[in-house]
Order: sequence, then C-alpha cells, then structure tokens
Amino acid sequence: MASIITKKILDEPELYLIRVNDDEIKYFEATWYIPEGITYNSYLMKLDNAIVLFDTVKKEYAEMFLEELRKIVDLEEITHIIIHHTEPDHTGALSKVLEANGYRAKVLGTAFARNLLEGFYGSEIVKNFQVVKDGEELKIGGKTFRFITVPWLHWPDTMITYVVEDKLIFSCDAGGGYSIPRGIDDSNEDVVKEYLPYVTKYVVTVIGHYHKYIVQNIKKLKKLGIIDNAKMILPGHGLIWRKNPKRIFEHYERIGAGVPEKDKVLVIYDSMYGFVEERMKVVIDELKRLGKKPIVYRFTDRENPAIADILGEVPTAEAIIIGASTFEADIHPRIRYTLFEILDKANYEKPVLIIGAFGWGGVAGRKIETLIARSKFDHVATIESRGRPTEEDREKIREAIKALF
Ligand code: FEO
Repeated sequence: MASIITKKILDEPELYLIRVNDDEIKYFEATWYIPEGITYNSYLMKLDNAIVLFDTVKKEYAEMFLEELRKIVDLEEITHIIIHHTEPDHTGALSKVLEANGYRAKVLGTAFARNLLEGFYGSEIVKNFQVVKDGEELKIGGKTFRFITVPWLHWPDTMITYVVEDKLIFSCDAGGGYSIPRGIDDSNEDVVKEYLPYVTKYVVTVIGHYHKYIVQNIKKLKKLGIIDNAKMILPGHGLIWRKNPKRIFEHYERIGAGVPEKDKVLVIYDSMYGFVEERMKVVIDELKRLGKKPIVYRFTDRENPAIADILGEVPTAEAIIIGASTFEADIHPRIRYTLFEILDKANYEKPVLIIGAFGWGGVAGRKIETLIARSKFDHVATIESRGRPTEEDREKIREAIKALF
C-alpha cells in the first residue's frame, strides 16, 4: 500500500519534503515495468509572508497528500504553487489543493505549462496562473526565485526553480529516478549505490527519447553556475541531493553520453526452440574467456524480461550482442519491440554484433542490420545460419566477438 512521509529538511528557510511512496504502481506511463515503485516528491517552503508549494503528487494520492499537508500548514495560507512540469504524476493533486486553498494561491509556471494544465484540468485551474519566463526572477517572501526553463526534461513545459540566496535547485523530473529509496537523501552511500541503477533506468525510459537535451540542459545550468554552487538539489522523484549535489547531474551526464562500465556487455536474445540459445552459449563462454561481464536478457517460452530493465542497461554497456530468430519473415517480435525501444530511447555509439538462426530463410539478421545502420550504433558483424550451429558457425561467432573490442 502506498504511504506518505513528511520530513523537515531545512530550518532556514523552513523547508519540508512531502513524499508519496508509490509501491502500488506496476507500469510507469502505462509502459515501464517498475516493481521497485517510485516516489512523488513535493516540497513546502515557509517564508516571511509567503508559503510556497513546489509541485504536487499523482491524483490517486491527493487526499493523502492534503491530509499530510494540513499537518504542517493551513492550506488557505499557501500563497504560491510552483509547477515545474505538468505531467500528472506531479500535478494530479493540484485541483484538490487549489480547492482546499480557496484558489488564493498564485500558480507559477511556463506558458507551455499553463496551456497543458488548462487542457488537463480545465480553465478553473489557471485562473490565477502567472507565466514566468526563462531566467525571470521573482521576490517571494524575501527570497529570490529564479526560473530556468529546461525543455524536454521531460516535456517542453519544464523548468526548474533556483532559490538564489539559499542555492537550492528544485528540479522536478531532472535529477529523479525510480524506486522508493530507504532514505530521503544522499547521506548514506549504500542507499545511493542501490538507487543509482534505478536513476539510469528512469532516465532512459522516461527522458531517453530526448537524451540530447539532457546534455544541453545540464550544460546550460552549468554555464549559469548554479550546479557547481548548489547546496541542495530537490527532485520530483527519489533522493534529495545534499551531501554531493553535483553527483546526480554528473550521473545524468554519463547516461546522456553513454559512458560504459568496463567490460560490461549486454546480451539480448530470443530463443523459441534453443537454436539461438546454443549460439548464445558460445557468445557467453567467449565473453567470459575474454574477461568480459555479460549481462544477459533472454526471451524464451519461460522468460519475458522487462524492456525497461533492458533499456536501463544500454548506456553503461561497452557493446551489445543481439540474438534473434527469424519469425514469419521478420525479426522475432520480442526482439523487434526491444530494438524499437533501444533505438528510440537508448541510441548510442556502441558496437553491435548480430547473431541469427532460421529454419528456411534468414531475414532477421538483415532486418536488424538495416535498423542498426540508421542508428548511432556501429554494426560489427552478422552471423546468421540455419538450424543448429555448426562448428564453423561457432568459430565465426568467436572471431566476431574478438572484433567487438
Ligand atoms: Fe515525473 Fe515527466 O513526470
């Protein structure tokens, strides 16, 4: 069952985290399998003559959110609500908050956000909306709030807020990750180490399609000098970064650039009746013999790994090996869909080896080659043959693997 926690995270300015731990979700955006769950983080800042709420939570948790907020604030006293990004995992509870607030609060966000909010929730929600522009600063409760647009992190509506005097970055999706971390911040290294692979999975699945904007936007924030100076990064999902705030954006940059982990090789294949699998055993043995670390995902009549998990492995792989059956004169459907998502969301300059098996006509290898040729990946070789692999096939596979590195 989902739960909610509230923690005071700063005395000056008085700042609270209100975090929904959603362990009921199965498929984020109705697509990405996340048995690890996710958190929706909202923040409340109490200032002289102003109370500012940063984002909200998903609609399903609105009542729980209001109840929790009431423990720390009279909802009618909230003066400003900053909407960094309108995806309903952050804005689903906004209508309920505004109703409870008597629509007293000014809602701040980009012009794009205003339009999306109106489309999602009706015109009532934007009647007290103030559009802010990139770089604009507003004095609220004696503090300077600077709004910086970071388009496509994760939608075109997205911005972050930098509280200048306190060097706080409220970053919504940017800096977020999946899972329900055991802590609220990065103070415990074990918690961080558990969490970072879920950040990678989140970035690729949610923002991967726009990954060039990750690099561009981080460059923009660095140029403004706010990442190096930040005292705290407060995302809309997952851990708060206060011990080493820069670390989360460095991690994002590595994902954006696809920096590999030494010796990690991603092996993905389908095998209907074991013919591809026999070839992949040769692959895995040869990789191990070369001191590589194969990470294997296979689709069989017993296994159906989550595409989200496979996507999360791509940025840190040195190379990718794809094994595919020819299926109805095409690529096996599981591999076809996996490739579609990889090429869309995790398209990197990494070497790819294709291994294929067929009954009466080899098509999968050629089709995968065509797809790879249109991507950033580098096609190294295709070894495709009929039925069970001969000794000659096995030797060709071993040779092709050596050529990968
Ligand atoms: Fe967490 Fe793009 O919403």
